[in-house]
Amino acid sequence: MPYYRTVGSVPPKRHTQHRDPEGRLYYEELMGEEGFSSDSSLLYHRGVPSAIVDSQVWELPDQTRAPNHPLKPRHLRLHSLFPEPGSAAGGACPVEGRRLVLGNNDVRIGYVVTGTDPSPYYRNAIGDECVYVESGSGVVETVLGVIPYRAQDYVLVPRSTTHRWVPSEPSRLYAIEANSHIAPPKRYLSRFGQLLEHAPYCERDLHGPGETHLVEGSDVEVLVKHRVGGAVVGTRMTYDTHPFDVVGWDGCLYPYTFNLEDYMPITGKVHQPPPVHQVFEGWNFVVCNFLPRKVDYHPLSIPVPYYHSNVDSDEVMFYVGGDYEARKGSGIALGSISLHPGGYAHGPQPSAIEASLGAEKFEETAVMIDTFAPLELGEGGLAAEDPAYAWSWAGRHAGDGGTSARGEDGGPAVYSNS
Ligand SMILES: [Fe+2]
Repeated sequence: MPYYRTVGSVPPKRHTQHRDPEGRLYYEELMGEEGFSSDSSLLYHRGVPSAIVDSQVWELPDQTRAPNHPLKPRHLRLHSLFPEPGSAAGGACPVEGRRLVLGNNDVRIGYVVTGTDPSPYYRNAIGDECVYVESGSGVVETVLGVIPYRAQDYVLVPRSTTHRWVPSEPSRLYAIEANSHIAPPKRYLSRFGQLLEHAPYCERDLHGPGETHLVEGSDVEVLVKHRVGGAVVGTRMTYDTHPFDVVGWDGCLYPYTFNLEDYMPITGKVHQPPPVHQVFEGWNFVVCNFLPRKVDYHPLSIPVPYYHSNVDSDEVMFYVGGDYEARKGSGIALGSISLHPGGYAHGPQPSAIEASLGAEKFEETAVMIDTFAPLELGEGGLAAEDPAYAWSWAGRHAGDGGTSARGEDGGPAVYSNS
């Protein structure tokens, strides 16, 4: 996190005695990144933060991955994976109900439609989580305090932050789970970490906990996602006393939200490439968002993108808002993912290029992840796939006898962004 915050009761000097009204010492914990050499916070606990009374295996949902082989662009309909929010079938757990859509050894993308039951207490010891809220609202209770969430929020939860999701309404959650930290791009930051003038957002847009969240309890289970070798596994730890016992903390490491609406799009005289839409970065991947915005103003500009072969990246677009009627023929709709892998050029169909000339505004909203290592398909990705998409540019598949895969409309999305 780029800036300092203090919440609740902390002593004037770090690593000095801090006592409750009865004179008992609080237990100080440093929660720090990169050992003791990067951002950190100091937490003051009522109980001993390391006091566990049990540890058992937590069986994670299916984490298997299938390579994108033979290589194809993919269209995944995430809304097909769960019943509609609030349906009689109920919702899934915000943590244990996540279905793995795509992943590699740097990042995993999961998707879940929740009900209103809280998740278990949970922390991800593998990396930071950036959960995009496609719809719904609620709060995330954390060891550092409570952060409300709403539609279009990114919820950033640092590695090993104990928390739980408490939806107040069924929520569609798109969970980006890194094996690293997730932060604003370095080029947006001053040498001391302040967001610079050219950055498309600033500290005022980042919303961390405002007060402590104290809960009494004993024998409290916490699910811990971690690694064994290269595998993602889980452990169910039971704590002697409730982990939400922090009376105060201060530092630069804490969960926060950022709402996509607060991103100020950067536009240009001609088409601007995706890096102007970047919001966060992790190790070997970036997160960008495309918002409704004015587009190119050169008299001969072509607002839709040129064909591009991102030779070092797999590109994942998640379509979350806007009018997709104009994209008839590709199958892309709200809740769709397109995966355009490295080794393959992609872009709009020729008729979309003509159709975009003279456009002054794009209305679509999308969240994009570019990875620098190939993505593989999780069980959720395989279950949500539209197999016709790969052939939609040509309008036919070699195996279908020359018939258009999608009829006369056959063609890729007229999406404007990537
Ligand atoms: Fe692209």
